[in-house]
Amino acid sequence: MRDARGMTLTTSNRSAADCYDAAVLEFASFTDDPVVTLDKALEADPNFAEALAAKAALFCTTSEQPLEAETVALVAAIEGQGSAAGETARRHAAAAKTWISGDWHKANALWGSLAMDHPQDLVAVQTAHLTDFLLGQNQMLRDRIAAVLPAWSEDMPGYSYLYGMRAFGEEESGRYAEAEASGLRALEMQPRDPWAVHAVTHVMEMQGRTADGIAHLRGREGDWAPDSFLAYHVWWHLALFHLDRGDTEEALKLYDSGVHPRHTEVAMEMLDAASLLWRLRLMDVEVGARWKDPLTLYEAQAEDGYYAFNDMHAMMTFLGSERFDLAERLVATMERRAAKGGSNGMMARDAGLPTVRGLLAFARGDYETAVEHLELARPAAHRFGGSHAQRDVIAWTATEAALRGNLSPRAQGLLAERLAAKPQSPTILRQQARLYRMTGRTAEAERTDSQASNLAATLAA
Ligand SMILES: [Fe+2]
Repeated sequence: MRDARGMTLTTSNRSAADCYDAAVLEFASFTDDPVVTLDKALEADPNFAEALAAKAALFCTTSEQPLEAETVALVAAIEGQGSAAGETARRHAAAAKTWISGDWHKANALWGSLAMDHPQDLVAVQTAHLTDFLLGQNQMLRDRIAAVLPAWSEDMPGYSYLYGMRAFGEEESGRYAEAEASGLRALEMQPRDPWAVHAVTHVMEMQGRTADGIAHLRGREGDWAPDSFLAYHVWWHLALFHLDRGDTEEALKLYDSGVHPRHTEVAMEMLDAASLLWRLRLMDVEVGARWKDPLTLYEAQAEDGYYAFNDMHAMMTFLGSERFDLAERLVATMERRAAKGGSNGMMARDAGLPTVRGLLAFARGDYETAVEHLELARPAAHRFGGSHAQRDVIAWTATEAALRGNLSPRAQGLLAERLAAKPQSPTILRQQARLYRMTGRTAEAERTDSQASNLAATLAA
């Protein structure tokens, strides 16, 4: 039996194969629940090796330590079948096993080479892509898709999703015009592709195009929001556009209605919640009891240190909740993790620790130390994954630290950087006005403040 793209399947159960096909597209389109659908495939055929492999791969892309035990069992179920499991499932199992061992970079390369050898294995392609994201491998996000595209044709189910992935890779590689074109091409073929919507959103975020970004997201809301397990993150992006305009009220509304509307223990959802609350804190917005829910989850993980990028968001939560005890415990956990080696050990050492130490110093009001740590973190931060937009919080915090600490030449440099990327940002212009005021340039401060207000008013209209 073969899957919808012609990959050999080890099952001979038609309904199991149909469920697998559906699950692969759910995974690629970030809609419904591919785990539930894979479970249906496995109910129909418990030895269905490709379904076991897809579930293991999906779990590895979640950055969730609690899913490791189940992933180990999935790998064992494939290995137990010996050669009957088939080549691709066994290669998936080897990659997932390597991931669990802590060598995420090697696991990513195993999925990547599987995708090159079998470009139609959409699960391998997407897992390589998503783990590139977790590892901050910007160019690979783009190049892996370029490598497999020639083996596909437009009539193959899932083809459009490759354009969404390509768009995101191009965006993270700074090729904004190509990224926007690829993302729009993906959406022309399949409007219900939150990853492609998201890639185009990233272009607009990086270019400070808040009007385009809001129109793009609002105009396509019916395509990306319903039934998508990526929706919370797209709402987060919409909130960022409003923050850029200084509209913190709308950002808070979006927090409550879309980014974090209900209790969750999903790591990826929680980190966006924490990072939005932290940005609001940088803008001196009172967020009430909203830190409470992230705190419940992150408190349980203070001695976990599973993934340094998540740890940065745990740190924001501890500091937002004024729990300096937990913040210090987390630093100690990350130091232990860094000494242990492995992919996350490197991430914790190079990117995680300077970032969390910077955040901690910021919360203590030791702005000079904060800037020092965050300046060390910035050039290395891509090593712990996430997107440019997510990691921008580090530069933003450094800028705030320099402003609050009266470190004027440093604040000027950081602000000049931010304004070069987003010259029309009311929020950054207001920071610039604060700097002018701080250095006694009152007339320039007033001019810049009114420029910010005019821009915000024009954009709101
Ligand atoms: Fe994003």
